[in-house]
Amino acid sequence: MTINIRKRLIGTYLLIILLTVASFEFALIWGIKNYYIGSVADNLKNQVELVSSFYNNFLDSGDIFSNSKEIIDIFSSRSFQLQITDKRARVIVDSLEATNDEVLDYEEIQMALAGQEGEYKGVDRISGERIISYTAPLKHDDIIVGCVRFTSSLEMTYKVINDLVKYILIFGIALIVVVFVVSFFIAQTIVSPVEEITKTADQMAKGNLTVRNKISNKDEIGLLAVCLNNMAEQLQNSEAMKNEFISSISHELRTPLTSIKGWAQTLKGTPMNETEQMQYGLDIIVDESDRLSDMVQDLLDFSRLQSARLKIHPEPTDINALILQTYEQMKQRALKQQVNMTIELPREAKKINADARRVKQILINIIDNALKFTPSGGEIFISGQEQEIDNKKYYVIKISDTGCGIPKEELSLIKNRFYKSKQNTTDKGTGLGLAICDELVKLHGGTMKITSEVNKGTIVYISLPL
Ligand SMILES: Nc1ncnc2c1ncn2[C@@H]1O[C@H](COP(=O)(O)OP(=O)(O)OP(=O)(O)O)[C@@H](O)[C@H]1O
Ligand SMILES: [Mg+2]
Repeated sequence: MTINIRKRLIGTYLLIILLTVASFEFALIWGIKNYYIGSVADNLKNQVELVSSFYNNFLDSGDIFSNSKEIIDIFSSRSFQLQITDKRARVIVDSLEATNDEVLDYEEIQMALAGQEGEYKGVDRISGERIISYTAPLKHDDIIVGCVRFTSSLEMTYKVINDLVKYILIFGIALIVVVFVVSFFIAQTIVSPVEEITKTADQMAKGNLTVRNKISNKDEIGLLAVCLNNMAEQLQNSEAMKNEFISSISHELRTPLTSIKGWAQTLKGTPMNETEQMQYGLDIIVDESDRLSDMVQDLLDFSRLQSARLKIHPEPTDINALILQTYEQMKQRALKQQVNMTIELPREAKKINADARRVKQILINIIDNALKFTPSGGEIFISGQEQEIDNKKYYVIKISDTGCGIPKEELSLIKNRFYKSKQNTTDKGTGLGLAICDELVKLHGGTMKITSEVNKGTIVYISLPL
């Protein structure tokens, strides 16, 4: 893939410079040729017209033979050939003395003798050189008596043009070579970071999550490198979290099991008539079994949450009765912990559309947290009431405690799976409770809000739509 990008970049640069250089040079060469040849032609044409009008207007005598000598004296030059013929196309004078007395049977001469200017561009019929020539009639009293012809060789001009073209082509080729080299380096600066990122990504894919991309540029490729680094970091984090979870869950599961097994063994050796001891042990076994089954429930819910299979089955439920029932259930534990748990609810039944089992699970989780993080002598207050929020009716359950509270900076994190506050030193729990509660409340179309102040307490608001 990388080779293709490099080739494509260099190819694009080359194509652009090739097209630019080719069209620019083509136009330049065309312009130079037109300019040089054109100026020779203009010069000749002016000379021919000058001689023709001089002859026609200023010479008194009609004797073309004597007049020709005079014209040759005045106008002949080294840079062109000047010929004058009589009206039968016979050369009277030739500044180069090359065609004296010859009859020039040329088309342009015939045109001039017929009264028009004639032009010839091509190869000279005698020398084979490339030439340009202009011919014009010579008149006396409006009667054509002969013609004058100026010819210039274009060989020198073409030599100059060819030299220029050579330089222009060399310059063009040099430019293309320079652009090729530069584009190679530019392509390199793009391709090599991509190659490096590909290498690290490959390593990450093979499971080495400690590798990181070096960030040297702040461009799109640099951004890609940053994204990959972040991804690896997140993967590493969730990997660490998973490991921590597995070790903590094994630990959590072992504690009640040890206690159940311990009490079962003790009770086996206890005489049947020691009812008090028997009762005490059985109570613990029941409590610990409950804790165990709660944990297993959490785990099940968690795996459903992960795969988005967590579902609720809402039906008309008396929410006030449900809260009261949960309160009664938790009351024993509060008493044991010497926490003063109170409740305030409307007297009449209030039907809402909810999954009773799940709502109870939410309440138990929140009250469990309140009990876990509130020391003896503390207070827990539970209340429920109808409220209007943004023109919509909700049933809001409020559970407040006077426990250790949650630091502000952690409030946004505690609903995350496995998140346990640094404040939480007891190490009890998996950090899943609030994540599951939040999901369950959302499934009901409601919201869960938590406010807290360290060392003062925590308030959890659960709003379920009516
Ligand atoms: N009422 C509260 N007072 C103080 N801290 C709280 C309270 N409720 C929750 N927290 C903090 O938020 C963390 C996450 O709570 P969450 O219920 O999700 O997990 P957990 O209680 O640790 O474990 P689990 O509920 O699975 O047994 C807790 O570990 C605790 O640090
Ligand atoms: Mg909890």
